[in-house]
Amino acid sequence: MAKTASEETSRTKLFELLIENPGEVVSSSRVTERLSASRQAVFKAACALRDEGLPVESLPQKGYRLGNMEAVQALAPTAIEYFLRGNPLFNKFLYFQDVDSTQSVIKSLARQDAPAGIVACAEAQNAGRGRRGRSWVGASGKNIVFSVLLRPMLKPGEVQLLNLAAGLAVKETMRAMYGIPAELKWPNDILCRGRKMCGILSEAAGEPDRIYYAVTGIGVNVNMEPDDVPQELREIATSALVESGRILPRWRVLVTLLDNFARYAKMLDTKSGGAELLAVYRRECDTLGKDVKVIQDDEIFTGRATSVTREGALVVKINSEEKIFAAADVQHLRAV
Ligand code: BTN
Repeated sequence: MAKTASEETSRTKLFELLIENPGEVVSSSRVTERLSASRQAVFKAACALRDEGLPVESLPQKGYRLGNMEAVQALAPTAIEYFLRGNPLFNKFLYFQDVDSTQSVIKSLARQDAPAGIVACAEAQNAGRGRRGRSWVGASGKNIVFSVLLRPMLKPGEVQLLNLAAGLAVKETMRAMYGIPAELKWPNDILCRGRKMCGILSEAAGEPDRIYYAVTGIGVNVNMEPDDVPQELREIATSALVESGRILPRWRVLVTLLDNFARYAKMLDTKSGGAELLAVYRRECDTLGKDVKVIQDDEIFTGRATSVTREGALVVKINSEEKIFAAADVQHLRAV
């Protein structure tokens, strides 16, 4: 049943109160006062939070307490919305159990003139899309798949910069928060020990000299176990759980990733921001300096990746000549 506006407000206010008093029992009278609601309405709000997967304890005659959020795997919308309040760009969160593709959800909103900053996240996609017309599959309820709506001040030829920004955000999140030795493969794959942990897809609509909107979709393999990986992908895919041995709180991975992505995406709104973003990317991209195999359409090239251009294209030195790839599949051959 759809929730009413006042039920939603009670749920949000109850979560606020509990998260602001970590580990404490907040008395029922304090809760009813803060929510301006009856005991019955508070009880209903607590049940609704539990249904989202949040550890809200009701202690008879005492009150309510929030358990350990770090043990929460669920993408609990109320918690995510609360933590996105400080995000300068991504602060509207839409949560779905099952969609065809979160890219399609955001594209349809973009065509209806929705503002930038909406995040559409799903537990499962039945037609998830990858780069170059490939499909994207993932374990339902264990990973993170989402798309965001952006209206950047970029030209169509610069959309690759959004991929670079998103790739930096994922790498930073995995390394800084969980010590996972994530590597960034140009343009935007996140690998661990050579296996893929995350894929990113940016699509845009516009005119030759301006973008109306861009949609960046990110799929991160978070708590997927080895047996969840389809047989044909076992040699090439991995997850944060496989790499760290820990089940991660998906809500926190998402919130942190969106904070980092907002910081990099915002850079693109300033005059010097594109250059700053590229400077960070050139430092962090693990493809640069490596020997690579580049597959473009039906052709294969091998050479040394030397740089990334202003538009985000990869420069590869092949024999003594430099070739620029705007879009291609790259394999790392060996470190130098
Ligand atoms: C790739 O590596 O090929 C890109 C994969 C992008 C997958 C994400 S999951 C969320 C969003 N919805 C989609 O259908 N695709 C992107």
